[in-house]
Amino acid sequence: MKTKIVFFIMMITSLSLNGQNQDFVKILEYGAKAPSGHNTQPWLFKIKEAEIEIHPNFAKSLPIVDPDNRELFVSLGCAAENICIAALHKGYKTTVSITEKGIIHIKLDKQNSKTTSPLFSQITVRQTNRSIYNGNIIPKDNINQLKTVEYEPHVKVHFFKNGTSKFDSISNLIYEGNRRQMQDKNFKAELQQWMRYNKKHQNVTRDGLSYAVFGAPNLPRFIAKSIISKAVNEKSQNKNDKKKIASSSHFILFTTQNNTIEQWINLGRTLERFLLKSTEMGLVHAYMNQPNEVLDLSQKMAVTLDIPNEYPTVLIRMGYGEKMPYSLRKKIEDLIIE
Ligand SMILES: Cc1cc2nc3c(=O)[nH]c(=O)nc-3n(C[C@H](O)[C@H](O)[C@H](O)COP(=O)(O)O)c2cc1C
Repeated sequence: MKTKIVFFIMMITSLSLNGQNQDFVKILEYGAKAPSGHNTQPWLFKIKEAEIEIHPNFAKSLPIVDPDNRELFVSLGCAAENICIAALHKGYKTTVSITEKGIIHIKLDKQNSKTTSPLFSQITVRQTNRSIYNGNIIPKDNINQLKTVEYEPHVKVHFFKNGTSKFDSISNLIYEGNRRQMQDKNFKAELQQWMRYNKKHQNVTRDGLSYAVFGAPNLPRFIAKSIISKAVNEKSQNKNDKKKIASSSHFILFTTQNNTIEQWINLGRTLERFLLKSTEMGLVHAYMNQPNEVLDLSQKMAVTLDIPNEYPTVLIRMGYGEKMPYSLRKKIEDLIIE
């Protein structure tokens, strides 16, 4: 009976996508592999005759950690970049425009000749890697290679090497960010709402922060929940982050000039390009965005780092480490709207 129901659902889904341009559906599958805060996957896609639209899905907002939806729009930018890279691979030239409300229009023109980006093959390889890295420093030549990644307008990228005083200043702001966030019961409640405690839980929702990406074992939900609830506090967060930071080679900070929706999306496009390039180079990364999520800390960071006229938006650590399990994505048919 169960098999029949599953088969019936699959039939309906494939029928509902049948009328759509199959090239575009495939391209969107790559778009949906983008990173997003808490893996909320806050995007909805519309397929037009020669265009794809990305709409923000505000039902997936994170009002406590991301009250102005800045990280949401950065995530949409990451998805847009994947779409452009995948479209090129399928033989389409893309033109991107962004409305005031943050709807992204990607025009696709079929080309006679096919070119592909070396970043295409990295879309399915990229992952957020929250493990402790091996402590090796990225050679200067490789950092210079990363600096050749093309930046979108009004976006800047800053590198801070482990062992420098600015690296230490950023670390202290992360610890302070953890202290503030972990004292906020609403922050903790929102975070726990997006935790996926075991394999069954993760497979049902196909979103959120899976137990597996933290290297945790697959345990009955009530046990996992109780362990994780105890670990979500300032002391254990800072103890873990200290080890993770010490094992990393660099912090990399992405900023915008005016903190607008369009610039957040452009930052996301730059970020994704950058993450794909670093993945291609065998580097791993994870986000340490706590200081950017607490307003006065992000202002303090801008001053401390001598960039008073920029808005710190995304902070990552980078280095070398072992691969981690991947987080799941929603099925593409659940993300396409009429
Ligand atoms: C704008 C943005 C902010 C993020 N902030 C954090 C963060 O502070 N801490 C963290 O562990 N992961 C953070 N992430 C990573 C997401 O949790 C991750 O992308 C998501 O779980 C999907 O996993 P994947 O990147 O491995 O595909 C952030 C991602 C984005 C795009």
